[in-house]
Amino acid sequence: MSDSPLLVTCGLPYTNGPCHIGHLRTYVPADFYVRYQRHLGKEVVFICGSDNHGTPIVISADQSGKTPREISEIYHTHFDLTFKRMNIFFDQFGMTDDPANHQRTQKIVQSLIDNGHVYQKTISQSYCPKCSMFLPDRYVEGICPHCGAPARGDECDQGCGKHLEPGEITKPVCKVCGGNAELRDQEHYFFRLGDFSEFLENYLSELDGTSNARNYAIGWLKEGLHDWCITRTLNWGVKFPGNDDLVVYVWVDAPIGYMAFTEEWAKKNNGNWEQFWRGSQPIIHFIGQDIIYHHCVFWPAILKGAGYATPHAVVASGMVKINEKKFSKSRGNVVWTNDDYLDQGLPADYLRYYLLAYTSHTKELNFSWKIFQERINNELVDTLGNFLYRTLHFAANKLGGIPDGEPETEISERIQATIDRVSAEMEHYEFKNAIDEMMSLAGFGNTYIQTNAPWKLIKEDRQAAELVILNCLQIAKACTLLFDALIPEKSQHAWEMLGYTDHVASHAITEATQGFAHTNLPKPSILFAKIEDDTLTILEDIMTKRIQEAEMNENTKINENTETQTDERISIDEFGRVELKVAKILSAEKIEGSKKLLKIQVTLGDEERQIVSGIAQYYTPEELVGKSVVVVTNLKKAKLFGVESDGKILAAGDNASLLMPGDDVSPGTKIL
Ligand code: 2FM
Ligand code: ZN
Repeated sequence: MSDSPLLVTCGLPYTNGPCHIGHLRTYVPADFYVRYQRHLGKEVVFICGSDNHGTPIVISADQSGKTPREISEIYHTHFDLTFKRMNIFFDQFGMTDDPANHQRTQKIVQSLIDNGHVYQKTISQSYCPKCSMFLPDRYVEGICPHCGAPARGDECDQGCGKHLEPGEITKPVCKVCGGNAELRDQEHYFFRLGDFSEFLENYLSELDGTSNARNYAIGWLKEGLHDWCITRTLNWGVKFPGNDDLVVYVWVDAPIGYMAFTEEWAKKNNGNWEQFWRGSQPIIHFIGQDIIYHHCVFWPAILKGAGYATPHAVVASGMVKINEKKFSKSRGNVVWTNDDYLDQGLPADYLRYYLLAYTSHTKELNFSWKIFQERINNELVDTLGNFLYRTLHFAANKLGGIPDGEPETEISERIQATIDRVSAEMEHYEFKNAIDEMMSLAGFGNTYIQTNAPWKLIKEDRQAAELVILNCLQIAKACTLLFDALIPEKSQHAWEMLGYTDHVASHAITEATQGFAHTNLPKPSILFAKIEDDTLTILEDIMTKRIQEAEMNENTKINENTETQTDERISIDEFGRVELKVAKILSAEKIEGSKKLLKIQVTLGDEERQIVSGIAQYYTPEELVGKSVVVVTNLKKAKLFGVESDGKILAAGDNASLLMPGDDVSPGTKIL
């Protein structure tokens, strides 16, 4: 290990659901950064693992009839394999429920207690009288006391994003039974976070990483810090030292996982974990923007309070939107890494490229398959792929391999300038800019080969043509070394097409300006296949179908809430309670964001009604106007896609054939 190794970590995914594109927005850039640092000759230990504790896992386990450990192991393996499929390789991928983390967490909490940073206090906490249990974190939902948005027990996930302390949420409702929760007193342990304000102020002013992490945290600090409840009433988690009835809050033991996994790595590799966590070797955390508070406020305070070293940098990625809509698993606005992408046979490297090259790391990324197709085809295929193929094809076919000699000085200088700029951008975590620089070298290569036209030159001056191709080969080598951190599988293939038989990953960037020690070149092949329109249609269809399914589920849920479900036959009296009337459609319009629903105004003679109906796929709004239909008029009102619906239009079968009176019957006529 070199004198100044780095420790790079990635936020730990919860083991309660599969890997999606939102996860990748953190892991892919971290992997890119690590690989690039290694090309610069730095030693990097790259650590991650899965986050197994906390209520998200207990709730999912309950729902699936598994134990929290079982469900954790399933998703732990899933993430481990998915990351590998995405060419993301950690030196250690641990579990927060493993003994190393239980032990390290208990040691750290004990140190906090010993150092006087923890005290006991009675608090009022949400309790469900029906389920006879306290409702920690995600077991309770209600209203955020800060901004009034609907919120989870531990965070305002739909509004201001603030962390919520136990008992803070207003109008608490039990997530298990849906009943109203009440407040009950219970003893808990608190961390004196307020005592760390001055320390954090100094720490944050020097914190490296992306400015969003630093600035958000400084803003929160200005609002004042409150002491932090670090225990929960739960059977799953790390037992609180000296009180077996409580576990530590998941946001205490999860980041301690970073340390425990470094210890596990050190054990296996004869490494030294303390050089990072007790010494001065840099620790860099890659996280999503939503967990800045935990990493820039809670975590450094815990480390300081327990006598450990604090991280050097926090790099926070912006959030992901899907086709301009908020990322939402329940609404189907999600892209699953395996099902939707890798299992469709698409290369991991394409997605890596798109995620990093599309927009700056801290900005919101609006995911779209159409833009994905454009970027891959225009940049990877037409610029980089085209340049490499033209160069290698000409060299192998017309020159029989790599010509003798040295590339021209201007070419070496152009390559060196690119390396310097890429390295500077990487140092500032400006990944998109770094990639733009790399791609501009490939673009330069394309222009150079086109302008110098070696295919013409060779007819008059073979030596001059050889020099042009030697220059191009040098640029191709530089591109391959530079792009390796981003698209490692494709770069390895390119490296082999340049006549090398070893791993490009083991070579330093400085070799980009060094010539070739060999002359043979294999027959080149196409490196990047275009994303065809047919593929785009498949990818878009998967997403459309999922959104439609989610809409249908939503509608079913609403219908279940508004209608009485029964398996038995009903009496004539019961049927008599259903009020059916003839209505005439006055107007209809689409509902934004929904492919199935139409907002329809009808007249019942003496009354007008608005009805939301799921028939948009079968009728245009225009063809509905003027039609007489049958409507259930005494249904409870419902909201679909936020639009009020007062009644139900009857339709039959898969094609939603509308039920209409045979004769001309006036609106409002009762159906008997
Ligand atoms: O927000 C999350 O998905 C958490 N599981 C991240 C934990 S990161 C770290 F602190 F462990
Ligand atoms: Zn809020």
